[in-house]
Parts: sequence; C-alpha cells; structure tokens
Amino acid sequence: MTADNKFQFLLEKIYRNKGVDFSLYREGTLRRRIDSRLRTTGCVDYLEYVSYLNRNPEEYDRLIKAVTINVTEFFRNPETFRAIQQKVLPEIIKQKQEHSVIGQLQGGVDAVRQNRGLPFSRTAATTETLSPIRLYRIPPVTEGLQHSKKTIRAWCAGASYGEEAYSVAILFLQVLQKKNADYDVKILGTDIDPDCIVKAKIGLYEPSHLKAIGKHILDRYFSREGKNYRVNDAVRQLTEFKPHNMLSDKPFDKLDLILCRNVIIYFTKPLQTYVYNLFARCLKPGGFLVLGKVESLWGCSLGLFETVDNKERIYRKVNSN
Ligand SMILES: C[S@@+](CC[C@H](N)C(=O)[O-])C[C@H]1O[C@@H](n2cnc3c(N)ncnc32)[C@H](O)[C@@H]1O
Repeated sequence: MTADNKFQFLLEKIYRNKGVDFSLYREGTLRRRIDSRLRTTGCVDYLEYVSYLNRNPEEYDRLIKAVTINVTEFFRNPETFRAIQQKVLPEIIKQKQEHSVIGQLQGGVDAVRQNRGLPFSRTAATTETLSPIRLYRIPPVTEGLQHSKKTIRAWCAGASYGEEAYSVAILFLQVLQKKNADYDVKILGTDIDPDCIVKAKIGLYEPSHLKAIGKHILDRYFSREGKNYRVNDAVRQLTEFKPHNMLSDKPFDKLDLILCRNVIIYFTKPLQTYVYNLFARCLKPGGFLVLGKVESLWGCSLGLFETVDNKERIYRKVNSN
C-alpha cells in the first residue's frame, strides 16, 4: 500500500466509524493535523494509526478535535463585529419593519376590498403600485410599528464553544435597545464537535476568551464566578446550541443572517462552492452572510451574493425574483 492509499484508507475508516467525511477538507492542513496525532500516539504511519484507532476508539474524538480546531473568542476580529452592528443588524431590522408595514397595508387593502368591493383585484399591476418603498413612506401606518413582534433568525455555523453566537446576541440586544424595537431573536449556534456544544450551553468562560470585551459589556452581560465569567440569562435567552455537521445534516431555513467564520478555510474549493450554495438556500432574500477574514466567495457563488463590506467579508443574498 502506498502512503497515499494508507491515508485514504484512514479517511474512509473515520467516515465509516464517525460519519465525518474529511476527504473534501484541504489535504495539506488535514495531513498536518493528523500527523500531529500520529506523533502523539507514537504511530509510524497511517496504517499503524488505523490499528491504534481500533484498539483505542476514544482516539477518534481526539483526532476529530485536532482536525477541526476550535480556537475562538468573544468578538473575534472586533472590527467585523462593528461592521455587523453598523451595517447588518439595522438593515435586518429595517427589512422587518418594511415587511410589517407591507403586511399591515396589504391586509388593510384586502379588508377594504372585501368590505367595500373596490374595483380592482390583486393583479401584478396592483402589486407593482404597492411597491415596498411607497408603502413604507405612508406616515400614519408606520407609527408605532417599532413595537410589533417579529422573528429574526441567525445561524452561527461552526460556532465552537459559543463565543461567536453570544457575541451576536449581545450586539442584537444593544441594537434593539437603542432602536427601542421588540423582536424575537433566535441565534442558533452549531458545531460538529459535541464537546463544544456542551460548553457553549454552560456559557462559562475564562478571561482569556474575553479579551476583546470592554468593561461595560462585561458588567452588563456577564456575571463573575470565581475567576471566570458566565453569560447572563438575557443573552442566553436569544441563543440555542446544537451539534450539527453543516456538510451532512439537515440545513436550516428562512434565516436573516449566517456567520460561518474560520471554518470554510479548511474545505477544498468544490466543497466551499457547495457550502456557499447551501447558505444561499438557507437565507431569506436579502439575508446576510459573514465569513472569516481570510475566506471569500469565489466562482459561481459570487453571483448569489452582493458585497456589503469586502474587508470584513460581509455579503448579502441577491434577490433572485
Ligand atoms: C476555528 S473554529 C471557528 C469558531 C468561530 N466560528 C470563530 O471564527 O471564532 C472552527 C469550528 O468549526 C467547526 N467545524 C469544522 N467542520 C465543521 C462541520 N463540517 N460542521 C460544523 N462545524 C464544523 C469546528 O469543530 C470548530 O469548532
């Protein structure tokens, strides 16, 4: 067996036993990470490592952890979170308000039509006349709409220990408070590594994970427990965590925002294309996608999104209809 065959044999073995398909992860990074496990376990090659896995099945989890690497922190790349706060969240809220107004107006028009028998039906021409912008500008109907309850759905894919999802939750709390707006925000944090999800749910962090957080945020959204800090209930209520493999598990839909940062970098180009297409399907029209600082859209996925902030890797799903 050649070294390459042994390597493929190992990947096949991982897939068969743990359901995780690393064959489309970037080979250089993958080999470096697996090689580090070979050294730690004292195996001379991939075949010996397969025998080691047979004798020590608990090694699978260590191997998967070594490959998927969970490094993260609160507000990682703070400038990206600033851009999300300034350019993404207000836009999502604005979109909701517009839909809310259109919904009310459309409902109103339908009611009037039914009650008074207006001489038009809901034709293409009518819909055109009732364009979102024109409807939104009719002042009396917009009054008081800030308080209508609406749902905002975000997904942190590859959320690691939860810091990213909690950071987004804190941003939402701040923005909604500033706008005096009331929405049901649900931020779903998922990761392939179940240990990450257990820790994310606990929500207790060492100070080293909180370096990018200012004191006012720490005081407001965390409580101290010994040397560590626990995320407050107000933040936790906005979040939910689940184990999930974004490459094989059922995806989520009707999302306003997806963050998938520092994950796609480990995937080959064809796999990246698959994931970008998947994200486009998961997002509502006009929904936002945030990637890691060294990740970007390419090829046919460029046509699915428009760029909102190139430096911070923020994109918006293009309206296809
Ligand atoms: C480097 S961390 C990034 C964490 C966070 N997004 C950030 O940028 O700080 C990458 C995470 O992606 C997860 N991951 C890797 N492959 C995955 C997959 N197929 N599905 C879900 N999560 C995955 C890893 O377990 C790891 O926790």
